[in-house]
Amino acid sequence: KEDKVQINVLNQSYQDLATHWHGVHLPAKMDGSPYQTSKHGETFKAKFVVNQDSSFNFYHAHTLHKTANQVYAGLTGILMIADDDMHQKVLPNAYGVNDIPLILQDKRFNHKGKMIYQSNMHTKMMGFTGNTMLVNGTVNAKLDLASETIRFRILNASNSRIYKLAFSDKRAFDFIATESALLPRPLKRLNLVISPGERVEIIVNLSKDYKRKLILVDEFSESTLLKIDVKHKGKRNLKLPQILNEPKRIDLSEIKTTRKFSLENTSINNEVMDMNRINFTVPVAEYEIWQITNNSMQHHPFHMHGTSFWVLDDKAYYQKYALKDTILVPRYSTVNLAIKFTYKTDDNAYMYHCHNLEHEDAGMMGQFQVI
Ligand code: C2O
Ligand code: CU
Ligand code: CU
Repeated sequence: KEDKVQINVLNQSYQDLATHWHGVHLPAKMDGSPYQTSKHGETFKAKFVVNQDSSFNFYHAHTLHKTANQVYAGLTGILMIADDDMHQKVLPNAYGVNDIPLILQDKRFNHKGKMIYQSNMHTKMMGFTGNTMLVNGTVNAKLDLASETIRFRILNASNSRIYKLAFSDKRAFDFIATESALLPRPLKRLNLVISPGERVEIIVNLSKDYKRKLILVDEFSESTLLKIDVKHKGKRNLKLPQILNEPKRIDLSEIKTTRKFSLENTSINNEVMDMNRINFTVPVAEYEIWQITNNSMQHHPFHMHGTSFWVLDDKAYYQKYALKDTILVPRYSTVNLAIKFTYKTDDNAYMYHCHNLEHEDAGMMGQFQVI
């Protein structure tokens, strides 16, 4: 916390590019939204002070109407915020050894092995999905591990695919963190649903699995994501603490404004993205309830920039008081969020949108100012 950061993003491609820090709480002019689009040879300098807890975030292209294609082509990666918070210290944190990031994507390849991307009426409506699963940019991903407690930090960086993660032997694991914070306590799970833009952190106990093999699968598509070979004898065995974070209590009676969002097939509140329209304004440093209703037959992952929100409902796909920045709103359902912004936007704006990237590019996005 309080570290000063400057990231210089040099555009060496021949396309216009905006590069967004998804999940990072920062002023709108540093956010890498379409307002900070750079041309070939230009550098976008993002300067900010880290102002949030340890969290597993990512960066990705956010160029107006070109996000899906550019992310698919590879413009995405992880961005981790780490601090020495006491709860973090007891969790596995040896990067690449027992603390392992997994970036999930799906692609299509032609017979020469070149990536294919298609944009048409169908993909605009339904999103583009691949037929080949990649983990950390690798087809047929494999990982050798030791028989010990492993933490996976998992990002769904796919354009539109929703995964249901599970292990091939149907073992239980501990769900410990959402996008922006550790959960108050670990939750035992057999599977977890993760939509584009969402992140989850889990703890898997491999202490009894020396010499065994295990597969991380997607139960929705019935495909293999990652083959795990427990090749080495582990040393570190962890007793997972039962308290991971302070449970958040928000006094809802103090909140005056409920702001309603209606997700349609490819629009929000029947409006499509227009750079010349600020869709609404929000007062700085005041809690609001954002009520997101999905009125369409498709699932939509809702995301907004600038901060994170507290989830106020308990449902299958999310937990009350989880701190998140992207949330899957299943078809014909409603979720309530408590949200408060730290920075005024000045002349810039923050975006809110569906994180199905084809939907975002089709206009399922808007912008707001914090005043
Ligand atoms: Cu992950 Cu507006 O973005
Ligand atoms: Cu974002
Ligand atoms: Cu959508």
